Amino acid sequence: MEIRDLTPDDLDDVLDLRKRAFGPLAASDAETWRRAVIPVLGEGRYLGAFDGSRLAAAARLRQFTQWWHGRPQPMAGVAGVTVGPEDRGRGVGTRIMRAVIDRAVALGDAVSALFPATTPIYRALGYEHAGAQRKVTLPAESLRRLRPSGQVKVRRMGPADAAELIAVLHRVHAAARSSGPISYDERTWGLWLDDDDDFRYIADDGYLIYRWHDGDVQIDNLVAGSAETARALWSIVGSSSSIAKNVIAPVAPDDPVLWLLPERSQDHVTEQRWMFRVLDVAAAVERRGYPAAVTCEAVVTVEDPVRGGGTWRLEVAGGSGTAIPAGSAGAPAAVLSANGLSALYSGVPTATLRATGLMSGDERHDEALDAAFAAKAYMLDYF
Ligand SMILES: CC(C)(COP(=O)(O)OP(=O)(O)OC[C@H]1O[C@@H](n2cnc3c(N)ncnc32)[C@H](O)[C@@H]1OP(=O)(O)O)[C@@H](O)C(=O)NCCC(=O)NCCS
Repeated sequence: MEIRDLTPDDLDDVLDLRKRAFGPLAASDAETWRRAVIPVLGEGRYLGAFDGSRLAAAARLRQFTQWWHGRPQPMAGVAGVTVGPEDRGRGVGTRIMRAVIDRAVALGDAVSALFPATTPIYRALGYEHAGAQRKVTLPAESLRRLRPSGQVKVRRMGPADAAELIAVLHRVHAAARSSGPISYDERTWGLWLDDDDDFRYIADDGYLIYRWHDGDVQIDNLVAGSAETARALWSIVGSSSSIAKNVIAPVAPDDPVLWLLPERSQDHVTEQRWMFRVLDVAAAVERRGYPAAVTCEAVVTVEDPVRGGGTWRLEVAGGSGTAIPAGSAGAPAAVLSANGLSALYSGVPTATLRATGLMSGDERHDEALDAAFAAKAYMLDYF
């Protein structure tokens, strides 16, 4: 089996593989997909596994920005992992995923994430449960009553606003010290902001993208950097309450809207889990943000048969972190599997990691690690 970059000539075969894996695709969706993937083929972001000339598997690396404690870094979003039905269960999926990991590192990404349809294949390669896309169902009427108390300038948004939208995301996630949310690149935003079924509004510190779905309003994205803008954008959606009973929205675990609602007892939430992997320990630690109030150090040994492990001294101060190779003969270390480190980076507490066998070794570092990596990781976007 040969693994190589896909070319435009392979796209019909990839589409066939996708239909065999995920079911029929409307002609218009297939066209949208082609428009989105053709530019990435030349960037080494779509791999195929070939049995002779026959395409047996494919996987795509999407180029995202992901914020960790408010600091953005490039992230390889793995999507469209598909093995032909006749080739499944023979290690092909694992082989193409290994190639995806190598490619992500070659492209300069220190971290990667994916939404799993099944977890064992990704777990065995070091990806671990990190966060979720949480969708909450809210009564439209209660949103209508969130009247903006001041003047927020909100205008309609189109494809030409992609760069401004990205700038808003950078400002809002830095200020909120967000962990987990992603942004598409400008080209992809441009395509999305051109979708006729969506309604889009932007303010100086927030934006809203929504559509009608089965008589309800479905929010794709609502990001707001201030209480005023949150009220303004949520009330726009709520203004549909004469027609829509519910608004379904992806929200952060601590999304302000959940505290703004006049009435809240039970939350109706669905969670789509995502998994995360640290690919390059030193770069991932350096690119992450940390609580400015935390100054600490810890020694960790990472056991990673896929990427190669090692022992590092982690130092966190002033909101930044470094991982310096420490050799194996130094101070007693906490020991983390690749999965354990990936989960820790995403804010999973050391107590959980120890109770699940993802962490062992010296316990004296645990409180420092918990303080440094504390996060409630989330994503608003499914990919
Ligand atoms: C999921 C998929 C990519 C796995 O590819 P594959 O070549 O069959 O996987 P491998 O042979 O390398 O198996 C890797 C591990 O995953 C497990 N696995 C494979 N398919 C699975 C499934 N449907 N459910 C649960 N586990 C599965 C295997 O048992 C193996 O674990 P093990 O070594 O502990 O037995 C492939 O079955 C597929 O294309 N499925 C349909 C599309 C899909 O779900 N894609 C994933 C999108 S995130």
